[in-house]
Amino acid sequence: TTDPLVIFTPSGKRGRFPVGTPVLTAARQLGVDLDSVCGGRGICSKCQITPSYGEFPKHGVHVADDALSEWNAVEERYDRVRGLTKGRRLGCQATVQSDIVIDVPAESQVHRQVVRKAATQRDIVMDPATKLYYVEVQEPDMHEPSGDLERLCKALKDQWQIEGVAAPLSVMRKLQPVLRKGGWKATVALHKDHHSKDHTLVDIYPGFDETPVYGLAIDLGSTTVAAHLCDLRTGLVAASAGIMNPQIRFGEDLMSRVSYAMMNKGGDQEMTRAVREAIDQLTKDIALEADIDPARILEAVFVCNPVMHHLLIGLDPVELGQAPFALATSDAMSLTSTELGLGAMNAAAQIYILPCIAGHVGADCAAVALSEEPGKSEDLVLIVDVGTNAELLLGNKTRVLACSSPTGPAFEGAQISSGQRAAPGAIERIEIDPVTKEPRFRVIGSDLWSDDEGFAEATKGTGISGICGSGIIEAVAEMRMAGILDASGLIGSAEMTGTPRCEARGRTHEYVIYDGIANGGPRITVTQGDIRAIQLAKSALYAGARLLMDEMNVETVDRVVLAGAFGAHISAKHAMVLGMIPDVPLEKVQSAGNAAGTGARIALSNIGARSDIEQIVHQITKVETAIEPKFQEHFVNANAIPHATDTFPNLS
Ligand code: FES
Repeated sequence: TTDPLVIFTPSGKRGRFPVGTPVLTAARQLGVDLDSVCGGRGICSKCQITPSYGEFPKHGVHVADDALSEWNAVEERYDRVRGLTKGRRLGCQATVQSDIVIDVPAESQVHRQVVRKAATQRDIVMDPATKLYYVEVQEPDMHEPSGDLERLCKALKDQWQIEGVAAPLSVMRKLQPVLRKGGWKATVALHKDHHSKDHTLVDIYPGFDETPVYGLAIDLGSTTVAAHLCDLRTGLVAASAGIMNPQIRFGEDLMSRVSYAMMNKGGDQEMTRAVREAIDQLTKDIALEADIDPARILEAVFVCNPVMHHLLIGLDPVELGQAPFALATSDAMSLTSTELGLGAMNAAAQIYILPCIAGHVGADCAAVALSEEPGKSEDLVLIVDVGTNAELLLGNKTRVLACSSPTGPAFEGAQISSGQRAAPGAIERIEIDPVTKEPRFRVIGSDLWSDDEGFAEATKGTGISGICGSGIIEAVAEMRMAGILDASGLIGSAEMTGTPRCEARGRTHEYVIYDGIANGGPRITVTQGDIRAIQLAKSALYAGARLLMDEMNVETVDRVVLAGAFGAHISAKHAMVLGMIPDVPLEKVQSAGNAAGTGARIALSNIGARSDIEQIVHQITKVETAIEPKFQEHFVNANAIPHATDTFPNLS
């Protein structure tokens, strides 16, 4: 007689097992992804499976209704106390009786996929560094003189085949009371190092504890700090929050912060303190929003530019302010919250900082590379992460290049006369009639255009307060298309343009989009100075892209991906009219949302991704814009709108 055949779906893995083998055991032996926190004791319910009965011609098997064992006492009890969904069984309790096909639902897979929203992105496969394990520890006695930690480690080895577990002091302090409180049963959170496979005991809870544990994916930008709180089991985002980077008071942009550190003794430490306090605040805020205990945050992954990287870790960033822009280290770093002086999350929380690519191209760019995978692209893709510093990646399967470009904060609405951050009331969309030169616009918080009926009513709450980054890009592009602006970026007079909206302002002109003064509102205009600020920003961006294209020896790219929180809001057409990005068919411009933040989430959710990105950054060729004479030439040519020499056939 042959043993029963067991087939798992959706993996298709199969094997023969003796009658009486628990399904969980069969799954483990075949390498089928079936979850378990309690180690098969019928406590955690993570091992749920759905048996299929009937004829399976494809597999050549027939399975009978009794192909699995009857419910046993453990399953009965579990169902009585917690309820088992109809048709489901506990994989650790049900045993194989005859040929059987077993489906492993998504919730029961450790490596389940988490769906991502943006069009350019793959799903995230869960394989977190930190996981929970339930253990039953041998009680101490006079004849067995080993310590509690040693017996815990032995239990982990016997029950989970896990070795090399170290416990930091903060956890050691809890160990004895928790083990006794739980009656020598405990749930431990173990963090696996992706290099050594050693484990760190991050926390311990009495008895079986299925309260979720969390990680933070933090995008530490020079202007804002944004975080996603992710459930480390499901990968789902429990809450998202952002906070202004308080270092702004030491300087708007990165270089002014580096100068602050150069000019003021201890200035770097002041900035380090400020950003760490902000991260603590953000941690508390996000925990409050998700209604969880911040001590349940056991991990954090950071992505940031090189200056923020140094200031977070507590390294003086002066070397990043001068050629050759050497980083203290470009390698990824694994630290603890205590080492970083972060007090709001778990005291033993494990911190992972993605590697930097070069002195100007940071871990945020590495995170974009992890999220968007230019190195796997068949066609040549240009990825632009627009921020105070634009980070650019150009590449395909054969080669990937990276650079950063100092765009300044104009694209974020800063240094623009009527500029503001993207917030309710900010003009985000604008159209200018090419004949009448009259504008119509939309503000954040309302779907109506300014000439729609009910607009005034709809914007009563928010008002019309200013113009945000995407709004200013559209405004300048629309002004150019309506002939209010010439190719050199000069705003025409009322006589030249034929509209009284072009008013004289000193020796230059400004275009009035909205005049709310009579109603006590603001007067929103685009000044010549605004145009110049946008020209500088877009020239820097375009010159960076061209420099990478030169290096790649290409004249065009196949597609453009706009990343960054702001990238999601830019209209492809307007960006191209402005000459921010090289010419491609408009449908080949995609938005990736906050790709750096997504990269942080991937590294938080999947330990293998950490090894991947550490490899990938070594394969990326860094192009240094600051010392490249060609950059200046590209920059000057890109000053015209859209460009002095390059053509944009897709615009006509
Ligand atoms: Fe925990 Fe089956 S493995 S209930």
